Formats: sequence, C-alpha cells, structure tokens
Amino acid sequence: MAIEQTLILCKADAVARGLVGEILTRFERRGYTIAAMKLFTVDEARAKKHYAEHDGKPFFPGLISYLTSAPIVALVVEGSDAVEGCRSSIGATNPIKAAPGSIRGDFAQTIGRNLVHGSDSPESAKREIAIWFQPNEIASRKHDLEAWLVST
Ligand code: RTP
Ligand code: MG
Repeated sequence: MAIEQTLILCKADAVARGLVGEILTRFERRGYTIAAMKLFTVDEARAKKHYAEHDGKPFFPGLISYLTSAPIVALVVEGSDAVEGCRSSIGATNPIKAAPGSIRGDFAQTIGRNLVHGSDSPESAKREIAIWFQPNEIASRKHDLEAWLVST
C-alpha cells in the first residue's frame, strides 16, 4: 500500500454547474483526504504548462480556452494508490464511454466538457502538483491515513 498524492482539477464547467461539492464528496466518501484546495481563474501560461503533453494536438487550443474560461478548483487528494483510485472515480476521458457511477459517467456528456482532471501516474502527479501548489500550501495527512488504512 502506497499513500499517494494526486492533482485533481474541477474544471470550469464543474464550478459553473455547481458540481464541486458533489465531486469532492465522491472522493471523500471513498476515504481520500483533501490535502490542499483553492479556487481561482487560471492564466494561459499555467494551463499550457499543465497540459504540455497535448501541445500541438488539434484539441489543444480548445482545451486551453476551456481551462481558462472561468474559475476552477485545484486540489491535492491523498490516499492509498490515490492516482489510480481517483482516475477510476473520474471515469473514462470521453463521458460517453465513462461507466455510470463515475463522475464523468454520471454528470458529463462530451469529451470537451468532462468536468474533472486527475493525474495519470505518480510521476505526472508530482509534476502537476508543483505547477498548482507551493509545498507550504499542502497539508499531508499521510500518517493518519497509514494508521487507519489496512492493507491485506
Ligand atoms: P485529464 O488529463 O483532463 O484528466 O483527462 P484524461 O487524462 O482523461 O485525458 P487526456 O488524454 O489527458 O486529455 C486531456 C483533456 O483534453 C481533452 N480532450 N479532448 N477532442 C478530443 O479528442 C480530446 N481529447 C482529449 C479532454 O478535456 C481531456 O480531459
Ligand atoms: Mg490526462
């Protein structure tokens, strides 16, 4: 069992539609903890840095304008294998393929408005968390989590 941190973004549509509480509840009810959280409007430079792997793809300009169009909520979520676990709670990239019960499967319709971002690997999580948060803005509860999570 590895306690991991992952970077979650409630994208512009999630905030505009009033779904932030619902999304946080999904992670909290699964036992993940929130180690950091802030709401703000993203500038283009930060959005491009975050999604650098997609630079040059046809959907990149639309993706950047989506992320910068209105306030977003950025979070560090922590828990056992949190990177993979949060990705499964979020669901497939295209909501039409996302399982019912996942965030995208329950609340989204199109790939261009899919509500949430989650880091796709522990390495990505480290890179992305550093883009969105200063180390002193993160309140890890790793020791509490280790005490009450039992792995078999
Ligand atoms: P995310 O990074 O936002 O968590 O999404 P993801 O890993 O599930 O998917 P990724 O391949 O990283 O794509 C990043 C975001 O780009 C938009 N996208 N549009 N039109 C398209 O074909 C397309 N493909 C990707 C989505 O907003 C996706 O979440
Ligand atoms: Mg991705």
